Amino acid sequence: MTDTIPFNRPHVTGDEFKNIADAVQRGHLSGDGHYTRACHQMIEKITGVHNTLLTTSCTHALEIAASLLDLAPGDEVIMPSFTFVSTANAFVLRGARPVFVDIRPDTLNLDESLIEAAITPRTRAIAVVHYAGIACDMSAIGAIAERHGLTVVEDNAHGLGATYRGRQLGSFGELATQSFHETKNIHCGEGGALLVNDPNLMSRAEILREKGTNRSQFFRGAVDKYTWVEVGSSYLPSDLLAAFLLAQLESFDVIQARRMHIWNTYRDELAEWAAARSVTLPTVPDDCEHPAHLFYLLLPTLDDRQAFIAHLRSHDVQSVFHYVPLHSSPMGIELGGASATCPVTEDVSDRLVRLPLFPDLADGDIERVVAAVRSFDPTGHAPRS
Ligand SMILES: Cc1ncc(COP(=O)(O)O)c(C=O)c1O
Repeated sequence: MTDTIPFNRPHVTGDEFKNIADAVQRGHLSGDGHYTRACHQMIEKITGVHNTLLTTSCTHALEIAASLLDLAPGDEVIMPSFTFVSTANAFVLRGARPVFVDIRPDTLNLDESLIEAAITPRTRAIAVVHYAGIACDMSAIGAIAERHGLTVVEDNAHGLGATYRGRQLGSFGELATQSFHETKNIHCGEGGALLVNDPNLMSRAEILREKGTNRSQFFRGAVDKYTWVEVGSSYLPSDLLAAFLLAQLESFDVIQARRMHIWNTYRDELAEWAAARSVTLPTVPDDCEHPAHLFYLLLPTLDDRQAFIAHLRSHDVQSVFHYVPLHSSPMGIELGGASATCPVTEDVSDRLVRLPLFPDLADGDIERVVAAVRSFDPTGHAPRS
């Protein structure tokens, strides 16, 4: 009997425990200590963004972003339906209505050609998601936002270190968010970051993250006492989590190289099999560098996808589908999502499946995954040996 290859196994570099012990030794275990500051520097080095705030999750970073927009009830935020619930929840919690726009069939990102038709006098922002860390067309989306005076928020949960036309994701929107959940390339179990590209928003972002107080300014000596100045919450992680995260960030290049090797092996080994069976592999436009976050396949039909997952399971390989469309979910419908037209989202959501991809996947395991995939035949022909 062979061990099942999981979809994900959180990677640990080995330095996490040393850092945590050091954090304990330093005696500062709450947020914004030595390790949080070191993480901010590392994230800034990777993304090129100078104002970074570690948060307890990408979800919470999105919530701060939504608060910074000062949304009024009835304001609208354009976003894909093909995303995680947090992209929508963050804005809904602040009173806005999500307006779901369909995705492109190649990159599975917000279809920039459909955005302008969804803009109304109530539209305040465009929330983009770089699916699999492959960039949206930020040139077109930036131009639309500028034309209509809209804020761009990048949900860059997948895309740390990826680029669009040579520029890092997370540096395009006025605000951007990262995830350090254990399924992400770099993680601390649960964690995230807010990247603030509009310097005018930074001081309020700090306040919202620190329970609505100006405590951060107080610790910098900018004010002589700290007090309650806005409605906020507690969005800063313990320095223990930052200590864990720093070890990961310091291994970024090594982790990325291993993930890229796995991603490239899947692409090279599965291209011919896929082409012969109407299976689609990820599309990476020429002007995008991806971060090897996800390797997905689009099977010809929903039945094929379900049969594929079962087939891989019978070969002791775990594969998983991804987002369920938001516009047609119970909450999405309550928010008016039934009027959204998202045929690509509905189609892709049914047919997409993700393969195991994590740094500790051994070469033998990669071969096992490839062999299991290649022995599946969605067209009903006899499997190859
Ligand atoms: C696009 C997107 N945004 C936000 C999140 C939420 O991230 P977190 O778990 O760090 O809150 C996820 C989770 O995977 C995601 O895929």
